Amino acid sequence: MNGIFITIEGPDGAGKTSVIKELGPLLERELRIPLVLTREPGGIPIAEKIRQIILDPKNTEMDERTEALLYAAARRQHLVQKIIPAIESGKLILCDRFVDSSLAYQGAGRKIGMDAVASINQFAIEGVEPNLTLYLDVDSDTGLSRIKQGRSAQDLDRLDTESPVFHQRVRHAYLKIAEENQERIVMIDARESLETVIAYCLAAIKEHFPQVF
Ligand code: TYD
Repeated sequence: MNGIFITIEGPDGAGKTSVIKELGPLLERELRIPLVLTREPGGIPIAEKIRQIILDPKNTEMDERTEALLYAAARRQHLVQKIIPAIESGKLILCDRFVDSSLAYQGAGRKIGMDAVASINQFAIEGVEPNLTLYLDVDSDTGLSRIKQGRSAQDLDRLDTESPVFHQRVRHAYLKIAEENQERIVMIDARESLETVIAYCLAAIKEHFPQVF
C-alpha cells in the first residue's frame, strides 16, 4: 500500500510547531502504520544546511528569487531522500510546510507572483502532492504577537522579522490557496486553544483516512 502524505501549513505564529509536537505522539498511539514527522526547509542534512543559509538574519542581501530557488532546492532533496521513500514504504508522513508555504511567502509575501513560484516548485516536486493539508489559520496581528511573546529578538529568523504587511500578504495568500483547493486543504481556526486545534487536526486526519486507524 502507498503511504499517506499530510502537510501542515500556516502563517508564522499559527502554532504549527506546538501542534505537531503533540499531534505526533497522539497519532503514533492510534495509527496502524508507521509515522514519519518531518519539516521544511530541512528534514535531512543537505536541506537543513540550505535552511541555515535561507533563515540566517545576517543574509540581508539575499535576492527574493534566490530565496525561492533555495526553498525549492531544499524541498527537492527532502522529497527525494525522505518523503518519496516513506510514501513508497507505506508510512504516514506529517510534514511541517511544503509548496503552499512558498506560494504564500515567496509568491505573495515577496511579490514574485504565485504562478512563477508554482512553476519552479513543479520542477522540484514533479507532481508529488500532499493527500491532505491542514491549514492553521491565524490573523497576522495575533500571529506576530505570538512569535514575539515566545522568543527573544535573536531567536527570530529572517522571515519572522519581516514587516506586518508582508505577513498580511502571506495570510491572504493562504486564504486564497485554501479557497481554491478545498478538496485537499482543511482550514482550522488556530486562534482556538492548542487542545482544540489538535483535536480538529486529529479529527480531520481520521475523517480522511479511516483505513489507517
Ligand atoms: P518554520 O520552521 O515553519 O518556522 P517557525 O518554526 O519559525 O514557525 O519555517 C521557517 C520560515 O520559513 C517561516 O518563516 C516560513 C518560511 N518559509 C518560506 O518562506 N517558504 C517556504 O517554502 C517554507 C517551507 C518556509
